[in-house]
Amino acid sequence: MSETQETLLKSLQTFQSTQLVKDKYENILEHLDSGIILFDRDGMLTFVNVQMAKLLEIPRVALIGCTLTEILRHPQLSRLNKRKLLRIYRETIFHKKRHHEFCDDRGNHWLLTLTYGDQMNGDFLLSAKDVSDYKQIEETAYQNDKLAMLGKISASIAHEIRNPLTAIRGFIQLLRPHLLHMGKDEYARIILMEIDRANDIISEFLNSSKPSAPQMSVINVSSLLKEVVLLSESEALMNGCQITLQDREAPLYISVDSKQIKQVILNIIKNAMDAIEDLGHNHAGMIHIHVEQVSTNVEIHICDNGKGMDHDILARLFDPFFTTKKTGTGLGLSVSYRIIKNHGGFIYVNSDLGEGTHFKITLPHIK
Ligand SMILES: Nc1ncnc2c1ncn2[C@@H]1O[C@H](COP(=O)(O)OP(=O)(O)O)[C@@H](O)[C@H]1O
Ligand SMILES: [Mg+2]
Repeated sequence: MSETQETLLKSLQTFQSTQLVKDKYENILEHLDSGIILFDRDGMLTFVNVQMAKLLEIPRVALIGCTLTEILRHPQLSRLNKRKLLRIYRETIFHKKRHHEFCDDRGNHWLLTLTYGDQMNGDFLLSAKDVSDYKQIEETAYQNDKLAMLGKISASIAHEIRNPLTAIRGFIQLLRPHLLHMGKDEYARIILMEIDRANDIISEFLNSSKPSAPQMSVINVSSLLKEVVLLSESEALMNGCQITLQDREAPLYISVDSKQIKQVILNIIKNAMDAIEDLGHNHAGMIHIHVEQVSTNVEIHICDNGKGMDHDILARLFDPFFTTKKTGTGLGLSVSYRIIKNHGGFIYVNSDLGEGTHFKITLPHIK
């Protein structure tokens, strides 16, 4: 073999092995769970992986060679994705931010990372990762922290208010004979009644913000729901709304503190009635409740056709003191969330503005 041939063969071998390495890395990039897109120094798209093409809902071949402007004008790009891309452009590329987190119209959280500069030889790499699951874990931890703190604060406030109330109550009782003598027993009666009312409010608040350890018993979920529906039916009818409970032949058992679970269902029904009431009396309100067994869980579904919620409300729904009502406490759902978590279950919510809301409570099924 001549020297030239040998050199040629060597270059061919080097080329082949470089190609192999390139193919290998491209293969890895293509199948990453993050979406990846690479633009060269002229702003032309040179690489896009499977995941990113899926996110954009455009075939990869149709993307290669396009500039960002051309992608934005692409006939196959949906309006939703166009809005998303424009937003990404404005919030990251335009401001040259390296990391950015955003929530899309479907409520999914994305982490975007932008890599450029010397080490990229003028190329521009954008990666997008769906971090909804991490976000959910983070929020749950945050939520639990806040609830624990709320429990502590409210317990100490309640205690501080109760002590002076007890003293006032005692002294009024001591003064009562004198007031009676002056013909003012009515004052004493009102003062005592009002002190008792204040005490009741404190107890209620204490109960709701710091649910005690559950007193478990095994019960049939349908009988519990029947009782709750019975309790709320008259109020519902007054608000022009109908509650229906789907019958189930076979009983489903759960091990719960029935008082606490009743409180949760009542909270959700009460909210549903409020959401229906806000649509005015001409609206035929419907609250539908049904139970299902899904693998090892019992699922309680509560659907209403009330005013529904937007993303902002949904994101803060379980926050203590979050309310959109003039006389709301914003405690109902934060407490419900905690009760269900204490029972080893979870609450899921789905809602469409103007359409209605669907709450799903899961609890472990007892065979
Ligand atoms: N079924 C529902 N439909 C519409 N909005 C709801 C529904 N349930 C809860 N919400 C919203 O969630 C907020 C918090 O509810 P909650 O914790 O029970 O507190 P409150 O009822 O005192 O406002 C409500 O103010 C309301 O905006
Ligand atoms: Mg409420």
